[in-house]
Amino acid sequence: MIPIKTANELLKMRKACAIAAEILDKMSNFAKVGVSTYDLDCFGRDLMMEFGARSACFQYPGKARPYPAYSCISLNDEVVHGIPSKSVILADGDIVSIDVATFYDGYVGDNTRTVRIGSVSKEVDNFVSVAEEALFLGAAQALAGNRVGDISNAIETHAKKHGCGILRDFVGHGVGNSMHEEPQIPNYGSAHTGPILKPGMTLAIEPMFTMGSEKVFIADDGWTVKTVDGKLSVHCEHTILVTDGLPEVLTSVKK
Ligand code: MF3
Ligand code: CO
Repeated sequence: MIPIKTANELLKMRKACAIAAEILDKMSNFAKVGVSTYDLDCFGRDLMMEFGARSACFQYPGKARPYPAYSCISLNDEVVHGIPSKSVILADGDIVSIDVATFYDGYVGDNTRTVRIGSVSKEVDNFVSVAEEALFLGAAQALAGNRVGDISNAIETHAKKHGCGILRDFVGHGVGNSMHEEPQIPNYGSAHTGPILKPGMTLAIEPMFTMGSEKVFIADDGWTVKTVDGKLSVHCEHTILVTDGLPEVLTSVKK
């Protein structure tokens, strides 16, 4: 069963998503050469407190141990679920994905951005752009009457066109009063397949691409997902509302 949010729930989702978006935006601006991923996570944790929000990641149950930090910060060959660390210092040319999922008033906003640190090469800049484009191409398919596979296929088609690898074991998801709801939203699949989308569904769409092999492994810390070949990876995510008309990006930054 894919939850359909009521008007009242959507008010709360909107607020939760706006807060998650503002925190991610501020963290992205804080991410600079010389900053440790630990300090970046603490900066985010303090913002969550200021907003009266709570991390949806902190203590999230995992196979090896609960998730120990407030956001996921994944550097270069780390794809997702990177654990912030005092010994990981952002350097010129790095790309770092910051994944912020927060509870506010019982609802979760989930969003991720890959930030370019200092000046990155043209090739790397393009790679990040492909994932950003794929996110919006996927989101554009979040139309009532379409199916989940239409989102998946739009993302896969764009990745393939640009020679990117696609993570198989990690997928987008429904989001609401828990971080992970039905449906699963893979970044690959066939158009016109899967569950039908309806107004009131809220979906976390999140392309995760690699520059080389699609193969990944989980590091000894029990969480960090890394590419086997050590090549770069990129991750972008928005929480999207399916409406009667065009999709609404709930985690866009409000000016
Ligand atoms: N946005 C990530 C997801 O949807 C958040 C993971 S938090 C963690 O899976 F606790 F699982 F790391
Ligand atoms: Co997510």
